[in-house]
Amino acid sequence: MPAEGALVDRHGRVHTDLRISVTDRCNLRCVYCMPEEGLAFLPRSEILSFGEIARVARVARTLGVRSIRFTGGEPLMRRGLVELVGMVAGEGFDDVALTTNGTLLVPHARALAAAGLHRVNISCDSLQPLRFSEIRRRGDLGTVLGSMDAAEAAGLSPVKVNVVVVAGVNDDEILDFCAFGRDTGRLVRFIEYMPLDAEGSWCRDQVVPSEELLARIGAQWPLAPVAAAGGEPAPAERFRFVDGRGEIGVVGSVTRPFCGTCNRLRLTADGAVRNCLFTDDEVSVRAVLRNGGSDDDLAVAVRKAVWGKLPGHGINDPGFLRPVRSMSMIGG
Ligand code: 5AD
Ligand code: SF4
Repeated sequence: MPAEGALVDRHGRVHTDLRISVTDRCNLRCVYCMPEEGLAFLPRSEILSFGEIARVARVARTLGVRSIRFTGGEPLMRRGLVELVGMVAGEGFDDVALTTNGTLLVPHARALAAAGLHRVNISCDSLQPLRFSEIRRRGDLGTVLGSMDAAEAAGLSPVKVNVVVVAGVNDDEILDFCAFGRDTGRLVRFIEYMPLDAEGSWCRDQVVPSEELLARIGAQWPLAPVAAAGGEPAPAERFRFVDGRGEIGVVGSVTRPFCGTCNRLRLTADGAVRNCLFTDDEVSVRAVLRNGGSDDDLAVAVRKAVWGKLPGHGINDPGFLRPVRSMSMIGG
């Protein structure tokens, strides 16, 4: 493991993108993420304080991290999130984003933008009110659409709309979502359903392969691939409508894994650095933070977490084991 320089793993991938989960709590119970009764939440004492999170972000910045994304659970369930965004954004990142379920955003959109947030991804898996509420088990579509308007009014754009596609649940809405994106200028991103649901009920038949999704869209509105800006690794493959009415993204985590160019690391709400959604191999920075460790000690812990990264997630290997933490505890 190199003692200095960029954050590299043993396969030479440079890591510049840090995703910070600020809470494991969520006000929703999406069917592909949580059991109906919810999950036991972490005790408060185990959750990193704002000061601790900002310190990890500062150290990460010195190690070459350029982009930050705040995640949850639902990040707006963390009281004072605006203040934390200000603390982290103040470290000077190129990109500061937030992934939210869009239920609590409206009152905070302007303050978040003022604190230094650049843009938001809002999850929305159906454009049909009834189905939307079934997928989320609570919450309503109108609020989430309203949060997209509020985000745009606050300058948190372009708004990306995350759609987890589950066969037999919402895959009949793929074209509706494209029409929605074409009409509003919002960037719809179709995400393949991953084995990260808390109930362990994921099965391969529920995945709509990106290839099939693109064929279905292309038959209606021809698509052309868009090269990622500056050759940056990006999980979403971009495609533009050849008639000029915007573009879509496709995140083919299961059938077109992008592990080979993955540049992400994750900090969980309880202070573990994870180098992959699908690993159980974590390094605790909370221990370092709370045992009087120096910034150098923190840097060593982060380097170690990145260095040990496996070549890929292995979802398609016969011996694949689901990770112990589910999506709501890692943050996406
Ligand atoms: N597979 C794919 N995406 C998921 N998300 C939550 N659970 C899953 C899953 N099992 C998405 C959310 C949100 C982001 C954080 O991850 O919808 O857009
Ligand atoms: Fe909450 Fe996001 Fe999980 Fe839905 S997917 S239950 S909004 S954490």
